[in-house]
Amino acid sequence: MNKAASLLENKKKFLILGCGFSGSFFAKTIRELGCNALTSSRSEKKDPNSFVFNSECGKVPDEKIFDGVTHILSCIPPDKNGNDPVLVSLKSKLQNLPLEWVGYLSTTGVYGNTEGDWVSELDQPNPFQKRSQNRLNCEKKWIDSGLPVQIFRLPGIYGPGRSTFEAIRNQKIRIISKKNQVFSRIHVADITNAIIYLIQNKASLKFHQIINIADDEPCSQIEVIKYCYDLLGLKMPKPILFEEAKKELSPIAKSFWMENRRVSNKLLCKTLGYKLIYKNYKIGLKNCFLNS
Ligand SMILES: NC(=O)c1ccc[n+]([C@@H]2O[C@H](COP(=O)([O-])OP(=O)(O)OC[C@H]3O[C@@H](n4cnc5c(N)ncnc54)[C@H](OP(=O)(O)O)[C@@H]3O)[C@@H](O)[C@H]2O)c1
Repeated sequence: MNKAASLLENKKKFLILGCGFSGSFFAKTIRELGCNALTSSRSEKKDPNSFVFNSECGKVPDEKIFDGVTHILSCIPPDKNGNDPVLVSLKSKLQNLPLEWVGYLSTTGVYGNTEGDWVSELDQPNPFQKRSQNRLNCEKKWIDSGLPVQIFRLPGIYGPGRSTFEAIRNQKIRIISKKNQVFSRIHVADITNAIIYLIQNKASLKFHQIINIADDEPCSQIEVIKYCYDLLGLKMPKPILFEEAKKELSPIAKSFWMENRRVSNKLLCKTLGYKLIYKNYKIGLKNCFLNS
């Protein structure tokens, strides 16, 4: 963790709503910095720092969970009706808390298909998929809530325990090749570290409500897969052309291939001065390789 992050005052109390892959990484890191962090799950956990929040069955956290909360990070995607689970169930509760900061993890899917062009926060979102339209609506609702919210648009998230290595090991890998197709991605540690950097430097940095967190090098899926096979010392099987493969892909997997964009991190890394830990997939995957 960088020096700036280590300066975070320990009087802060974070609620992490949705303790999945990114939420649990954030919670672990912020606790290491001396902050108090409570995390939500949809079902009861043995962890004393965990509480139940499940918008699907109207299960909201007890009042005492909110005592002294200064920061909230929501890592929960839209529900099956396209609504934001947190705003549907807890908006007025949150609006009555003296919050210093709120974060919302969104997706770069809101930009739609740019046919491989770079896209930044200055570009108009142009969601192509229904789920991305829902996401953009959720972003708007967060902004309209009047909470001091920052929205983080994320591309494909990977990290130790969730990367191409697991897909190869579990034989769930599909090696598909599609000409000129690229994806952006981000290591989970950079999501956490960038957010902590922004909170830590809130007083000196201009407050931007929407920020992309992506690495420097969008690239094809094949490059990433080949790199993993090489690190494992295995030979990559022959790729299947997308036109062939698509006949057997699920609608969600197919939709993933219908968008082609390069997500710019200039605002975060140049204007705001955040230094990525994992600038590209090679450095990030090496970290996953050593920690899985
Ligand atoms: N994965 C990616 O590559 C990617 C890329 C871009 C953006 N995103 C978005 O970034 C955010 C974090 O991603 P992630 O992959 O770290 O998430 P994740 O591991 O899938 O975790 C999602 C969390 O949301 C909770 N949740 C889901 N529906 C809920 C509901 N109705 N009520 C209460 N809690 C609910 C889950 O609870 P349980 O713990 O009980 O399951 C889980 O803790 C999500 O919004 C995701 O859509 C993900």
